[in-house]
Order: sequence, then C-alpha cells, then structure tokens
Amino acid sequence: MKTGAELYRGKAKTVYLTEDPKVLVMHYRDDTSAFDGVKVEKLARKGMVNNYFNAFIMNKLKEAGIATHFEKLLSAQESLVKRLDMIPVECVVRNIATGSLCRRLGVQDGLELKPTLFEFFLKNDELHDPMINDYHIRTFKWATDDEVAQMKELTFKVNTILQPLFLAAGMILVDYKLEFGRYDGKILLGDEFTPDGCRIWDVETKEKLDKDRFRKDLGNVIESYEIVAHRLGIEIPA
Ligand code: ATP
Ligand code: TYD
Repeated sequence: MKTGAELYRGKAKTVYLTEDPKVLVMHYRDDTSAFDGVKVEKLARKGMVNNYFNAFIMNKLKEAGIATHFEKLLSAQESLVKRLDMIPVECVVRNIATGSLCRRLGVQDGLELKPTLFEFFLKNDELHDPMINDYHIRTFKWATDDEVAQMKELTFKVNTILQPLFLAAGMILVDYKLEFGRYDGKILLGDEFTPDGCRIWDVETKEKLDKDRFRKDLGNVIESYEIVAHRLGIEIPA
C-alpha cells in the first residue's frame, strides 16, 4: 500500500493517508510520552513491539467477534487500518484500583474492583483529558446515546476476552483505555491496545509490566513490554 500525505501526528503514532480513502497507514514511532506530553523519550524497539502487540490483540478480539479497524501488518512499525470518524472520548475499564482513580477517590491502590468500573474521559490534551459522563457526551453531542451504549458494551466485552487471556499467561489486566470510531454506520474499535494504554501486573509479584515503568522511572520499559508479549506468545523479530 503506497503511503500518502501525513494526516495526523500524535504523541506516539503518525497516521498517513493512502490511495484508498477508506484506509490509513498507522506508523508506530519509538516516541514514548507521559503526563500529557510533558515527559517524552525515544525508546528503541518500542514502535515495532507495540505494532506487533496491537496486531496480536486486535486479531484475538476479531476472532472473538469484536469489529475493529485493524486490517493487517504492513511492516515492522506500520499497520493498515480502516479510516474511522473517531469519537473524542476514551473508554476506561478498571479491574483493580490504581492511578488516577486512587488519587481522585482516595481508594486503596490494588483494591479489586467488583463489579468492574467503567469511566469516560474527554480526549483533549489541553484540558488534560478530564473525566466526563454520559450526560456530557449527550449534551455536547460527542456521540449518540446508542453509540454510548455500544461503546460500553464493547469495552466490557473486550474485558471478558482479554482478562482471561492475560491471566492464563500469568498477568493481571489491571485497567485499560479504548477508543472507538464510526465506519459505514457501525462503531468499530480503533486506535491501539498495547502496554502504553493499559496496566499489566505479574500475577504473583504484582510487578508492573506496562507504561507505569516509564511514568515512574522504574527502568526496563520495553524489556517489560517484550516479557508481556513473550508470555502471550507474540513473536517479535530480534
Ligand atoms: P493519545 O496518546 O492521548 O491517544 P495522540 O493523538 O497523541 O493521543 P497517537 O496514538 O499518537 O495519540 O495518535 C493516533 C491518533 O490517531 C489518535 O488521535 C487516534 O484517536 C487516531 N486514530 C486511531 N485510530 C484511528 C482510525 N482508525 N482512523 C482515524 N484516526 C484514528
Ligand atoms: P488513569 O489511571 O486514569 O491514568 P493515570 O493514572 O495514568 O493518570 O488511566 C487508566 C488506564 O487507562 C491506564 O492504563 C492508562 C489508560 N489511559 C490512557 O492510556 N490514556 C488516557 O488518556 C487515559 C485517560 C487513560
């Protein structure tokens, strides 16, 4: 697929147009950012590891009946995806309390959340992705009520697929963020599922194996992403 003009350069990925207006090339860069882009670093292999990781998870979700934007891997750092009309909200599911939830509500870090929590955040870096609810989405027309219901249902369905997948590989899927978009009148899962947008702990030691290693300067960031990938059976070139 011939890559055309740059459509959008985000903090971690660059999106390119192609000769087909319905598909885009997504280039996973080595850039890593946290705290709304305040902390930024290039980490070797990161683009490739996340690209392969995302392809594996998107294929697992597709096999389980979730419609996603993912088409195929194009190269080490590029994938082909359907072009979505992105809904500007982030859907967060939490199985274990940590991060902003603990800061916001003073609940104990590591607390098992039953039933599982769901939160919406507005995708807006300048406003630091504030938490919103269904009423904000309705009033400001970021999505319809039916789309909100579908995003919730799909986000929970992803949990029922991925939680056991990670557990069987010795890891806890603590929390994660999903983004959705519109395509031919349907809601598809977009963006990515990688250790950049979720938290993964070792089931025994509770060691952090995700982007918290970068946020908290714990070291071995990509080494940990590769451990997760290896445990899940994802093959990444040397
Ligand atoms: P954040 O890190 O908060 O997600 P960002 O914009 O910096 O924001 P990147 O991952 O670097 O994130 O950029 C990817 C961009 O492409 C995001 O804005 C995302 O919403 C958008 N996007 C993801 N999938 C699609 C798609 N299928 N069609 C169109 N845009 C997409
Ligand atoms: P959260 O605890 O709200 O964020 P933090 O503690 O980093 O401020 O995040 C919950 C999960 O969702 C976590 O795995 C990171 C992911 N997430 C993103 O990747 N991007 C986002 O914009 C948001 C709101 C969450």
